[in-house]
Amino acid sequence: MDQDTLKALVGQAALAYVQPHSILGVGTGSTVNKFIEALAKAAIPLKGAVSSSEATTKLLQQAGIEVLDSSAVASLDWYIDGADEIDHQGFMVKGGGAALTREKIVADLADKFLCIADASKLVEVLGQFPLPVEVVPMSSAHIIRRFATLGGQATVRLAKDGQPLVTDNGMHIVDVRGLQITDPKAMEDLVSVWPGVVTVGIFAHHKASVCLLGSPEGVKTLT
Ligand code: 5RP
Repeated sequence: MDQDTLKALVGQAALAYVQPHSILGVGTGSTVNKFIEALAKAAIPLKGAVSSSEATTKLLQQAGIEVLDSSAVASLDWYIDGADEIDHQGFMVKGGGAALTREKIVADLADKFLCIADASKLVEVLGQFPLPVEVVPMSSAHIIRRFATLGGQATVRLAKDGQPLVTDNGMHIVDVRGLQITDPKAMEDLVSVWPGVVTVGIFAHHKASVCLLGSPEGVKTLT
């Protein structure tokens, strides 16, 4: 089974967590795209969705699902999103799709986070995947130096045209290699207060409540 098939498998399995007539928080990425596809086919009636990116908004609207402004929603039961890495405690690294800030905002609105991922995302220690950090552009060089003091090699993420990638929020992303994130909450707290950091892609304070992992043996549920 290839990775795409595993993503489709967990996207389908996530439908079990969708309450009819609820408002759903929806993440960003190729696994979430599979979920949106499954949601559209299942035609579960929803009051609407709160989206974590322009890309997801477009897909939700194409699927006939109303996208609600996050400011108009006080709380959500479930936020459904993928991850770049998840450990056995449910701590995650996210932001490979550059949507981490809105993802964390929508995750914070929700009572529970359902992570959907293929089994290759499960790790013992976070940090193999370069850690994405959304930053105010003028701070990037200084933040890169700060990561160097922690043993991390950070670089500004580039778009296809070779220029710094600009997020939905008009910010840049630095990707940090070489970190062993053994204490995800401490690292999230440390980096979050650096001036210029908008969001660090460690989801420890917003960890997964449940994770559906797609493997060739089927979908495994981690709680
Ligand atoms: C986007 C994210 C995604 O959830 C993460 O990159 C996983 O993506 P995919 O489902 O495509 O593997 O954090 O910012």
